[in-house]
Amino acid sequence: MILVTGASGKVGSEAARLLGAQHQPTRALVRDPSRAPRADIEIVTGDFEVPDTLDAAMRGIETVILVSPAVPAQEIAVIASAARRGVRHIVKVTSKASADSPVDRRRGQAQIEAYLETSGISYTLLRANAYMQNLLALAPTIKQTGGFVMSAGDGQVGMIDARDVAATAATVATSPEAHAGRAYWLTGPELITYDDVAKELSDALGHSVGYRRTTPAEHLAAMIRAGVPEPVATSNAQAFGLIAEGDAAWLSDEVAAITGTPPRPLRTFIADHIAAFT
Ligand SMILES: NC(=O)c1ccc[n+]([C@@H]2O[C@H](COP(=O)([O-])OP(=O)(O)OC[C@H]3O[C@@H](n4cnc5c(N)ncnc54)[C@H](OP(=O)(O)O)[C@@H]3O)[C@@H](O)[C@H]2O)c1
Repeated sequence: MILVTGASGKVGSEAARLLGAQHQPTRALVRDPSRAPRADIEIVTGDFEVPDTLDAAMRGIETVILVSPAVPAQEIAVIASAARRGVRHIVKVTSKASADSPVDRRRGQAQIEAYLETSGISYTLLRANAYMQNLLALAPTIKQTGGFVMSAGDGQVGMIDARDVAATAATVATSPEAHAGRAYWLTGPELITYDDVAKELSDALGHSVGYRRTTPAEHLAAMIRAGVPEPVATSNAQAFGLIAEGDAAWLSDEVAAITGTPPRPLRTFIADHIAAFT
C-alpha cells in the first residue's frame, strides 16, 4: 500500500487522485479531513508534529510519497516513523537542495535528504524546478492592477506543472525498485521568463498583463505587505534573486521518460486555471 503525505496540497492531492484512478491501494494523510482529496482511496488524519498519528498512518505501508512544507523536524519525524514501521521505499519531493545554499529551505531540504540517506530505507528524490502553481499567488494583483511585480529579472525557469511532479511521483511509487537510489530533475517542457508569463497571460485573457521588474529587497517588502510570513517571503526573495542570475534555467526530459507523457506547457496550465485570473 502507498501512503501519500501532504495529500491536501498541490502535489499530494494529484498523486492521490492518480493512484486512486489506477486502483492502486493508497492511503492519504491529511490533518483536516475536509481538505482530503476526492479520490477512491483511504483517508487518514494525522499531523507531522504528532508521531503517534504518523505511526498509525504507516501501518501496512510499503511506499511513502513524502510531500510536506519541508520543515526539517517534521519530515525527519515522518522518515523516522516509516523506519519504525518497516516502510520499504520513500519517494521524496524536493528541490535544488544544498547544505550551503543561501536559501533557507534548500538547506532544510539538504538536512532532510541527509537523514533519509542514513535511514536505511530505499528512496527516490524528485528535484523539481519551480511550480507553475506559484503563479496563482500573482492572480489577485493581476486582477487588481493588470500586472505583477517580481524580482526575477530576465531569468529563465524550467517551470513545471505540479500535476506532472505528482504524475512522476505516482509512477515511481508503483514501481519503486526500478527507481531506487535515483535522483530525478523534473522540469516542464520549456524555459520561461516572467515576460513569457506576462505574454501567455495577455494572450489568454485578451488584455495586456505587464511584468514590472523590482529588486529582491522591494519584492521582499511587497510580499510582507501582502501578508506572506517573513521567513517564507525571505526565502522567496532569495530564490527569485537567484532566478534572475540563471539558477532555475535548467530543463530535463525526465518527466516524459518516467511517465511516458510529456509535461504540460505553460499555455496548458494557464488555460486550465484561467478562472483564477479573471
Ligand atoms: N513550490 C515550488 O515551486 C516548489 C518547487 C520545487 C520543490 N518544491 C517542494 O515541494 C514541496 C511542497 O509541495 P507542495 O507545493 O505540494 O506543498 P503544498 O501544496 O503547500 O502542500 C503541503 C502539504 O503539507 C500539509 N501539511 C502542512 N503542515 C502539516 C502538518 N503539520 N501535518 C500534516 N500535514 C501538513 C498541508 O496540509 P494543509 O492543507 O492542512 O495545510 C499540505 O497538504 C516542498 O518539499 C517544496 O520544497 C516546491
